[in-house]
Amino acid sequence: MSDDSLSSHLHEMDLSPQPGFTEQANGTAAMYDEAAADHEGFWARQARERIDWSTDFEQTLDWTEAPFAKWFVGGELNVAYNCVDRHVENGNGDRVAIHFEGEGGDTRTVTYADLQREVAKAANALESLGVEKGDRVAVYMPMIPETVVTMLACARIGAPHSVIFGGFSAEALHTRIADADAKLVVTTDGQFRRGKPAPLKAAVDAAIHHGDDASPVEKVLVVKRTDTEVEWDDERDVWWHDLVDGQPTTHDAQPMDSEHPLFILYTSGTTGKPKGIFHTSGGYLTQAAYTNAVVHDVHPESDVYWCTADVGWVTGHTYIVYGPLANGATQVMYEGTPDTPHQGRWWEIIEKYKVSVLYTAPTAIRTFMKWGADIPATFDLSSIRVLGSVGEPINPEAWLWYRKHIGGDAAPIVDTWWQTETGGIMISPLPGVTTLEPGSAQRPIPGIAAEILDDDGAPFTEAEKVGYLVLTKPWPAMLRGIWGDPERYKETYWSRFGPKYYFAGDGAKYDEKGNIWLLGRVDDVMNVSGHRLSTAEIESALVSHPSVAEAAVVGASDETTGQAVCAFVILRGDATDHGEDTVQELRNHVAKEIGPIAKPRQVMIVPELPKTRSGKIMRRLLKDVAENREVGDVTTLADSSVMSLIKDGMSTGSAD
Ligand code: WT7
Repeated sequence: MSDDSLSSHLHEMDLSPQPGFTEQANGTAAMYDEAAADHEGFWARQARERIDWSTDFEQTLDWTEAPFAKWFVGGELNVAYNCVDRHVENGNGDRVAIHFEGEGGDTRTVTYADLQREVAKAANALESLGVEKGDRVAVYMPMIPETVVTMLACARIGAPHSVIFGGFSAEALHTRIADADAKLVVTTDGQFRRGKPAPLKAAVDAAIHHGDDASPVEKVLVVKRTDTEVEWDDERDVWWHDLVDGQPTTHDAQPMDSEHPLFILYTSGTTGKPKGIFHTSGGYLTQAAYTNAVVHDVHPESDVYWCTADVGWVTGHTYIVYGPLANGATQVMYEGTPDTPHQGRWWEIIEKYKVSVLYTAPTAIRTFMKWGADIPATFDLSSIRVLGSVGEPINPEAWLWYRKHIGGDAAPIVDTWWQTETGGIMISPLPGVTTLEPGSAQRPIPGIAAEILDDDGAPFTEAEKVGYLVLTKPWPAMLRGIWGDPERYKETYWSRFGPKYYFAGDGAKYDEKGNIWLLGRVDDVMNVSGHRLSTAEIESALVSHPSVAEAAVVGASDETTGQAVCAFVILRGDATDHGEDTVQELRNHVAKEIGPIAKPRQVMIVPELPKTRSGKIMRRLLKDVAENREVGDVTTLADSSVMSLIKDGMSTGSAD
């Protein structure tokens, strides 16, 4: 579609809430007023209505040690009890919690009663391995029910989990295990990827035997998933089926303080060292449950919900594990890739389980657009009633395709802006309440406050002016810090615009109607397929290669993945350039150091890098090159001839 026909198409559409939808929606227009009138009172009500507390809280918010928040002070709860046991006690033990669909077509149906038994067994098993309240547990697992069970078992005994995405390498795993000082790792022998088993435990072994450092890991608990051959350390390694299967099926859940740490999740920042974002219990669970109800509009008694994220990312934590399970919802969990064994796999799953609420990422939608609308057209998707999007801005064209070909031209789409740090959805339309605006996340949900600031830190409301998105009031699911580094927490989020504003790192603007449009990161962070990658982390991976003297990485726009990693590399004087072989070697090196998601789409061997007089690399100019644009203003370069040198002497390697 051309831009003109796209915008005329948009004008013709009626995107106001549909009759019939509003009446049944969990979110209401009144909530905006309630929350605006009494911010804390609103959240206190959400906490008491949606969560079971063993001890009620005395104070809603303690912000006296800002930016370190305490929510629902004095309250006690057990997160796993809230996600599992209470539903069984309320007579919903037979309700399906998880319809599991393995990549190879194997299925499992896990009811809430099943989940209660499995979580109890796993909690007993963790305790038998010496895991105590406060100990950290690393989880390096694929998308299988045991992963959810493990996370809930950790929550049950108060041992914060640190889930590390299964696509990360041994190197990345090592750093994260060491930073969190995890004493137990839970993993699987392998994982299925495009029909083939790929090893997983091997990376755990390598992470533990990393260099000369003594590893904090005492035990490794291993689920057998693929029958992949594994090396075995009799002292350290334990099979899940040997230990967990025989455990008692009940476990006494102890109440935890509302501020007890629930999990750590590493995310990329602007430096090479990933940040351990940590979240606590009561506030996080409240916002997870609330947003899954009012934004996804999940009705636990009738909906079948499917969030396609991996549990290794925050979306999987909040919207596969904690939100929907706290609400007692029924959900689909799919292990594999969208094109295994065919490109209609997702639509087949929706038809099979009658999925009614689908939450996915723009990069997936753009991939399906490429594969063609005739693929979903052969499946019955009439069960769909709400669609969600997360991870990056969704371009209007993808929005329209999603609505038309997946949503039957009727389902509201919620474009949800949030971050690992925010813990839950922050800016999004409410289905049934908001008149939708394709491409915009629109406005903060009830209970959330945001502004856009100019360079001087002043809020403005003019349309089309670009500024910085900030959050202006503390919210229950907010991060409580960076694990082990309170200074970095203050510095990263609360210094740019003073202690009053949380700086999200995103550019934003308003349109004429007052909708917020998110415009991407303003820092050296890339967004590739909705995954956050740091330029510095990839640069340091590149320079760890013996042939590399210097490296600069930029995110260049990419039709499918949003942004793609483009690296500019100066080789060492003694290194010989083997052209395409060198390029491939460097690409593979990054995949090995960080993980396949970080593998550069392009590596360009260059003689120089553009730098300012103070030595700062001017990534903006490299981005121009990577995006095939006329190179911008070079006047602040120390040596203005560098850019022509780069363009002339470039040998380019591209993706496979
Ligand atoms: C960054 C956070 C939120 C879970 C997945 C990613 C970008 C996220 C949107 C959206 C525009 C978005 C932002 C944000 N982002 N959702 N709906 N529209 N941008 O979590 O890895 O912590 O990344 O993703 O740039 O800062 P994350």
